[in-house]
Amino acid sequence: MAEPKSDISEVEISRDHLAELLNEDLSREYQAIIAYVVYSQVLSGAEYMGIAAQLELHAKQELDHALTISRQIDYLGKMPAVVPKPVRTSKDPTEMLRFDLENENETVRNYRDRIRQCEALGEFAMAEQIRQILMQEQDHQIDLATALGVEVPDVSGGLRVRPLRKLA
Ligand SMILES: [Fe+2]
Ligand SMILES: [Fe+2]
Repeated sequence: MAEPKSDISEVEISRDHLAELLNEDLSREYQAIIAYVVYSQVLSGAEYMGIAAQLELHAKQELDHALTISRQIDYLGKMPAVVPKPVRTSKDPTEMLRFDLENENETVRNYRDRIRQCEALGEFAMAEQIRQILMQEQDHQIDLATALGVEVPDVSGGLRVRPLRKLA
């Protein structure tokens, strides 16, 4: 007999929906790889040398993230996405760095949700993998905010999740 659906405010999550959300994360990782590959090379001027070197390191870390996320999507029985989110460019170095910071903020917000969603589904190992990625994304945020001379934005908050009820 099916359990009656209660009136809940939390977001329900299924494994299929988790795989879809991970594919969005993967598209954001591709976006980050492309942005960091390009930005790290075109940022010129003595004042940007330090951050350009950091962006090169970010590019490599984003590739690792993409590999980890694809592995989780495959584990959930889905096909990893192949299309990046759009990459914004600018001739203005400060604007480029601001785009990067905005993307990192969005990424951090999403991974925080994803960890809660993985845990709601009992996917604790996956949550742990994403936690490792999140730590690096937060470092990226700090690197960019420092280069821009701004505070690291607070993107905490996020949603409460519960596993989708199985119909008996
Ligand atoms: Fe990443
Ligand atoms: Fe990042």
